[in-house]
Amino acid sequence: MIKIFMVNLSAVSGDKLSYSDSRDIIDKVHSGDLGGLYCGESLPAAIDGVLQSNSYMYPIINGGVPMLVEGYHLVNQNEMLNSENRLEDMVKAQLKQMEKFSEMHKKYYDQVTEAQQKVLREDYYGMLHGGASVLDIGNGGLTAHAQLGAEHADKVSRFFALDRSYHMLTRNGIHDGQIIGDAFKLPFADNSVDYITVNGVLHHFGRKRGDDRDAKLIAFIKEAMRVASKGLICLELAVPRYAEFAESVVLRVMGDMPTFVFSTHSLLKIVEKSGFKPEQVISKRIGQMLPPPLTVVPPILDYEWLKIPIVLLPYYMLYFVIRK
Ligand SMILES: C[S@@+](CC[C@H](N)C(=O)[O-])C[C@H]1O[C@@H](n2cnc3c(N)ncnc32)[C@H](O)[C@@H]1O
Repeated sequence: MIKIFMVNLSAVSGDKLSYSDSRDIIDKVHSGDLGGLYCGESLPAAIDGVLQSNSYMYPIINGGVPMLVEGYHLVNQNEMLNSENRLEDMVKAQLKQMEKFSEMHKKYYDQVTEAQQKVLREDYYGMLHGGASVLDIGNGGLTAHAQLGAEHADKVSRFFALDRSYHMLTRNGIHDGQIIGDAFKLPFADNSVDYITVNGVLHHFGRKRGDDRDAKLIAFIKEAMRVASKGLICLELAVPRYAEFAESVVLRVMGDMPTFVFSTHSLLKIVEKSGFKPEQVISKRIGQMLPPPLTVVPPILDYEWLKIPIVLLPYYMLYFVIRK
């Protein structure tokens, strides 16, 4: 297995590095002048490139291998949002939505997450045994134990937690060892982890009126399969086709939607269109799973006042695996 390390920009040079400082690095990279840039006391190595993922930049150290230094600090996302940067409006809206979600999660969704993971632990995570390395995309602040359960967490060799939202990633008070990054530009080399897990993330990619409906999901699947040497284990929220059609009408009126939930039918078709075959497909109506069916949740993040018993929601949980 290829050894992967990655360093967060704030760890570069050992001191706190602001977003504007990091522009200097980018300028230097563009001008080809990398001499004199080092990544600090913890890792005295020269930086010979920068891997860019949306507004996050990862120095590449010693010949193209992204570096992860234990104990580095996460860049505060608010600084990034407020600084002049290249984030699209929809991405800014999504990050704001996640900031709110990080506060609501414990109150409404922890129980739902636990119920979803039970299925993954029983039917899917056995394939990680034997020391697999795992990259969890859209991690939302979970440790390996919280996500995989003790029975599986002890059987993997590495667990990388990556999320685009600082607030989600740190919502449980963990501030070390996670990776701020974008699912579409993973700061990892080809085939550098065994498995990728992605739970409840795809509907947060959103949609824009006029965009090719399938393009984002296909781009994500290809990017994930570039990095995973064995496969992708996916759990995703899905709706019946009539509800997906209703969302498309709303999309036409609104112009963009920061969250868009696909139907099971569309999701599986899109996976196939990306050139892979979904295997071990399980679909469960959310009301049939634990937590208790009368648990109330706000199904639309932006309207916390609208709470509905989980048994009445038309959501399905769709599980599948893509193998390489
Ligand atoms: C509903 S939460 C799921 C969190 C966690 N996987 C779980 O099961 O509890 C969705 C997560 O996906 C993250 N996310 C959305 N789009 C992303 C992207 N393009 N790159 C990385 N993370 C993303 C969000 O920030 C959020 O934390």
